Amino acid sequence: MQDVFSGFCEKFERINTYLALIKYPEQLFSISPAKTLNHAGKSIFCFPIPGENLDPATVKSFGQEWQKFHHFAEVDLQDFGQKYFRLLHEVDLPKETLVADFGCGSGRWTRFFAPQAGHVVAIDPSAAIFAAAEVLQKIPNISLVNASIEQLPFLEETFDFGFSLGVLHHIPDTPKAMRDCVKTIKKGGFFLCYLYYNLDNRGWGFRALFAGVNLLRRLISSLPAGAKQLICNILALGVYLPLVSLSRLAKSLGVAAKIRAKLPLNAYENSSFYILRNDALDRFGTPLEQRFSKMEIEKMMTVAGLTDIRFSDQVPFWCAIGKRSF
Ligand SMILES: C[S@@+](CC[C@H](N)C(=O)[O-])C[C@H]1O[C@@H](n2cnc3c(N)ncnc32)[C@H](O)[C@@H]1O
Repeated sequence: MQDVFSGFCEKFERINTYLALIKYPEQLFSISPAKTLNHAGKSIFCFPIPGENLDPATVKSFGQEWQKFHHFAEVDLQDFGQKYFRLLHEVDLPKETLVADFGCGSGRWTRFFAPQAGHVVAIDPSAAIFAAAEVLQKIPNISLVNASIEQLPFLEETFDFGFSLGVLHHIPDTPKAMRDCVKTIKKGGFFLCYLYYNLDNRGWGFRALFAGVNLLRRLISSLPAGAKQLICNILALGVYLPLVSLSRLAKSLGVAAKIRAKLPLNAYENSSFYILRNDALDRFGTPLEQRFSKMEIEKMMTVAGLTDIRFSDQVPFWCAIGKRSF
């Protein structure tokens, strides 16, 4: 009986905290914001960005990308959201949590996760934070922070759960960036990440294809924004769409999912053309990307203080979750 009562009190206290955060989000921070901007009716808290562990060209490119692409259909968000967050089913995450989205971009995953969280803090150093303000306009239990992972304005052990999807491999020192994120997670809390894989689980054909693709990325990402977008639209139409259509055709002919998974770009089987255009730009327009093997990611997570590390065995690779224990 006493347990039920104390559980109830704890829940009540948490709910009160989250209601207070909507009204007074400043209490989240360990330092005062340098300035607060208003966009789409949302406050954006801006903090200094030292630039020591950040690639300026990459951050600029993402600012442009997310300002262009942030009108996502719910069905697209659900499709990829389920894939990114599926590992959460395997851990015991409390319902009302204080959550951080490290490198939120357009804020799409903050939007996806907010209904199941107490409060989500969306953090990004680029102009994408304005796109996130628009995407999250109608969602009350979120805060927007313009900051870089290298200098997060939070005390250690602030969050119950943090996620960083497709971000850390775009930062020069990825292991350090991971340590900086994990520091802000409470002991016993969880950290979920998605990092580009170095094709460690693929055959030579896939690797050869990737070598060509990577060369193209280096070339395209160095172009001015307009040219980059034009070429990526052409790639979406001329390369992504035909390959995705092949997967869809195989599906309609009854080819098993396990076999279709071997086809290039099969992960986009259910995605709209808007997502294909966005991802072509993301994939080919970004100057800095790094790739890691499963073992390297596991080591990085362990050094950051995570244990009970689990990897998803399905695309997108590699998605992993760990529990902060020290
Ligand atoms: C590929 S986007 C992913 C955005 C979002 N997580 C998503 O999946 O839609 C990578 C994001 O990382 C952000 N980023 C790059 N360097 C960063 C840093 N040092 N600190 C925090 N975010 C960073 C970029 O601005 C960009 O929005």
